[in-house]
Amino acid sequence: MISKQHINLTQQHQLFTQIGEVAQDMGTRAFVIGGYVRDLIMERKVSKDIDIVCEGSGIELAKAVSKKLPNTGKVNVYKTYGTAMVRVGDNELEFVGARKESYQKDSRNPIVESGTLEDDQKRRDFTINALAIALNPNEFGTLIDPFDGVEDIQKQLLRTPLAPEQTFSDDPLRMMRAVRFATQLNFTIDHKTHKAIHRMADRIAILSKERIIDELHKILMATKPSLGFLLLHELDLLHRILPELCALKGIEEVEGQKHKDNFYHTFEVVDNICKTTDHLWLRWAALLHDIGKAPTKRFSKKVGWTFHGHEFVGAKMVYELFKRLKMPLNEKMKYVQRLVFMSSRPIVIAEDIVTDAAVRRLVFDAGDLIDDLLLLCEADITTKNPRRFNTYHNNFKIVRQKIIDVEEKDRIRNFQPPVDGAEIMKTFDVGPCREIGLIKDHIKEAILEGVIPNEYEAAYAMMLEKAAELGLDKNKKTNA
Ligand code: CTP
Repeated sequence: MISKQHINLTQQHQLFTQIGEVAQDMGTRAFVIGGYVRDLIMERKVSKDIDIVCEGSGIELAKAVSKKLPNTGKVNVYKTYGTAMVRVGDNELEFVGARKESYQKDSRNPIVESGTLEDDQKRRDFTINALAIALNPNEFGTLIDPFDGVEDIQKQLLRTPLAPEQTFSDDPLRMMRAVRFATQLNFTIDHKTHKAIHRMADRIAILSKERIIDELHKILMATKPSLGFLLLHELDLLHRILPELCALKGIEEVEGQKHKDNFYHTFEVVDNICKTTDHLWLRWAALLHDIGKAPTKRFSKKVGWTFHGHEFVGAKMVYELFKRLKMPLNEKMKYVQRLVFMSSRPIVIAEDIVTDAAVRRLVFDAGDLIDDLLLLCEADITTKNPRRFNTYHNNFKIVRQKIIDVEEKDRIRNFQPPVDGAEIMKTFDVGPCREIGLIKDHIKEAILEGVIPNEYEAAYAMMLEKAAELGLDKNKKTNA
């Protein structure tokens, strides 16, 4: 059934009218299709990436539009895909000719031929993404919805236009996209579609890692990523991508002692941190902060369950995981590694009495990461015991205040020693030697412990004192 519903295209009215006129002059029909239409109908913020489909050559339409419209960039043609991209103002328009797929008798490879709008809509991933709005003057604004996409929007349902097996065979990434849209839009995956994904989960092995990661990033950037990760798990996809997380699942009990389920805990932490930050890599750090717990889990009769060194092991696993998934092995990976490595430090401080020295050491080690580390650790508080929950959060308030106080006094963040190696060598007329390191360390320790302030005079005096103890003589140079 083709709906004759009219959609108000006010937001980009002039642009769409002009495209429709150009298409009309060329004797073709043009439509806006895909995410733009979906978001418009859902009254979400529409994207600046707009997909235009036409019956005929998308590349020719793009060229004609670019000639007619002012404020237009050059036409980028992607011949292999039969698409063309044109920038108009701050919009990126992607033009494509409507296509259908047909199978040759003796080949299983599809050949892509031009087709009608409906042929094209059929080949799209979900009914909610297959909605089109006509742009030609005689039908401007008419919604074309042959697969009841609007109804699915109302029902908050993700459903494939064709049999799901066919839609997912065309591009297995759509299984990941189903989870991503379900997470972003808070939609349910239709029963048949869900079953097909579960059955075909192993097909994601043929996808490039980059495409998978792109979808994972989008899941992580949603308001409540746990929905997506639990769905990935339920659909048998998660262990194919992030087995390190699946390894955290389960609660073991020995002699009546249990540990928490770090799998569900992790997703709670991720949801928590999403309330306080949009930083993608901080969200990744939350996702991976406990991965070292599976390989380090031990039970001892004396202390119960332990995860000794899980931060160190976890940080090493971050590298392996990034490498396997072809994620950047640059400062972003190092950032996640450092946060995972330090992820228990502030908690330990917050549980004990917070001393100035402990705070100084934390700031010294974390440097510029201190604020993100605190956000991560606060998000890590998932206890269901209200008394403990309040105590931990209050302690974090104390830690934060102490950091401000200590920073004002001692400027430990990005610590630069007040007396450096060059000055020590010059003062005692010595070359590089073990004593220089010992003196520098002694001064640094004294500052962190609060024995002396982070100031030149005090550090200089301490240098003289420690040097004398090590047998270095300030007057050697002058005496000689
Ligand atoms: N599409 C598809 N199968 C894919 C990718 C895309 O059928 N594997 C179609 C869908 O109709 C989709 C459109 O191409 O709506 C544009 O794709 P894309 O820009 O990736 O997604 P959007 O739906 O625009 O959503 P978003 O911008 O939020 O990613």
